[in-house]
Amino acid sequence: MDQTLYFILLLIALCSVSECVQRQYHFINEEKTWTEAQRYCREKYTDLATADNMNDMNELKKSVNGGSVQDVWIGLQRTGRDKWQWSSGEPALYLNWAPGQPEGSFCGMMKNGKFEDLPCSNVRHFICNNTNTGLVFINQTKSWSDAQSYCRQNHIDLVSVRNQDENQQVEQFISDNHLSESHVWIGLFRDSWQWSDQSDSSFRDWDTNQPDNWGGNENCTVVNAQGKWNDISCTNQFPFVCHEDKLIVIRENLTWSEALRYCRQNHVDLVSVHSEEMQRRVMNVVKRASTAEVWLGLHNYCIMNMWLWVSGETVCYQNWAPGNGTKPENCRLEKRKGAVQSGGDQRWISLPETHKLNFICSRY
Ligand SMILES: *[C@@H]1O[C@H](CO)[C@@H](O)[C@H](O)[C@H]1NC(C)=O
Ligand SMILES: *[C@@H]1O[C@H](CO)[C@@H](O)[C@H](O)[C@H]1NC(C)=O
Ligand SMILES: *[C@@H]1O[C@H](CO)[C@@H](O)[C@H](O)[C@H]1NC(C)=O
Ligand SMILES: *[C@@H]1O[C@H](CO)[C@@H](O)[C@H](O)[C@H]1NC(C)=O
Ligand SMILES: *[C@@H]1O[C@H](CO)[C@@H](O)[C@H](O)[C@H]1NC(C)=O
Repeated sequence: MDQTLYFILLLIALCSVSECVQRQYHFINEEKTWTEAQRYCREKYTDLATADNMNDMNELKKSVNGGSVQDVWIGLQRTGRDKWQWSSGEPALYLNWAPGQPEGSFCGMMKNGKFEDLPCSNVRHFICNNTNTGLVFINQTKSWSDAQSYCRQNHIDLVSVRNQDENQQVEQFISDNHLSESHVWIGLFRDSWQWSDQSDSSFRDWDTNQPDNWGGNENCTVVNAQGKWNDISCTNQFPFVCHEDKLIVIRENLTWSEALRYCRQNHVDLVSVHSEEMQRRVMNVVKRASTAEVWLGLHNYCIMNMWLWVSGETVCYQNWAPGNGTKPENCRLEKRKGAVQSGGDQRWISLPETHKLNFICSRY
């Protein structure tokens, strides 16, 4: 076979694998209050369970008695402080409210390019986001959470509007679909729940009509027999699920090779970021680093001027900072490795391997 063709086919084959778990769930079959369960998980593992998405929930449920869940604590707790968030899991910092908005409801939509809040049970048109095709207009009307489920099943999620550019894009898109005058759901919602591990995941999977704060002191969350979430008083005693993070930031300043050795001796390897999902996980933990850049398991394979992950995978999913990772590197001068920025856009940059940085080990 033609060598180039062979190589392309190989790349396609390699690029289609991107299975990964961020965290391992551990079911503890001992009845404790929420706070006792939290203490136990923090001592033995990382924390009470966090879930970022439906995959996490499926893994979590599988960890419990082979899937037969009955009221087990997870790490979600009511704080009493309300926060607008994007369905994708991000905090909402850009909030382009129309004058007089918000009015006290819990879900957000766009009309004439501005945000308004509406009761979440209203049925409206909505916009999903898709990795490949971008914005997708769904010509059906649904409640906010049904719209969210639809987008999560068929695309990625309800659309986020995180800055003026995205605002313009979405406004234009709505106008192209002749809906400027109507209310269209976007991925904006508000609640006052916080994960025990401080994760900013806004993934929620409440059972119908929950959370209802019945009796006014239901500040903690269980997964119920239906596999859905219910709010319940924290002083009840239930079995619980802990999680153990699979990515660890090591706050020591080492060269790339030293970092690699450290991870292989103490954990499994330097982290390979072969998917957007994995990049999100890296972004979640990298904030804890003390250096501006943090080593990844990314190295430049000079002979072919190709970047590879230490796991052996080629770099399919890419998140390079502009000017990095694309130009041929000068190999005779110095060997270069890949790091991720701990702040800002958290993109990847190419650095000489002798730089001393924090690094991320994986336990996969
Ligand atoms: C539940 O949380 C709210 C808001 O933080 C707080 O005011 C209330 O006292 C809490 N109730 C209990 C029983 O802890
Ligand atoms: C759409 O989804 C992609 C992939 O998850 C993401 O990078 C992008 O920021 C999203 N855009 C919007 C407007 O939601
Ligand atoms: C949505 O569906 C309705 C009824 O099927 C149709 O009349 C309308 O043109 C559609 N709108 C768009 C933007 O596709
Ligand atoms: C690592 O380097 C950073 C930035 O130069 C510094 O703030 C930090 O204290 C160093 N950490 C250690 C353990 O030396
Ligand atoms: C790589 O990205 C960093 C951060 O954006 C930038 O400062 C640097 O100039 C880039 N390197 C090249 C060769 O463009």
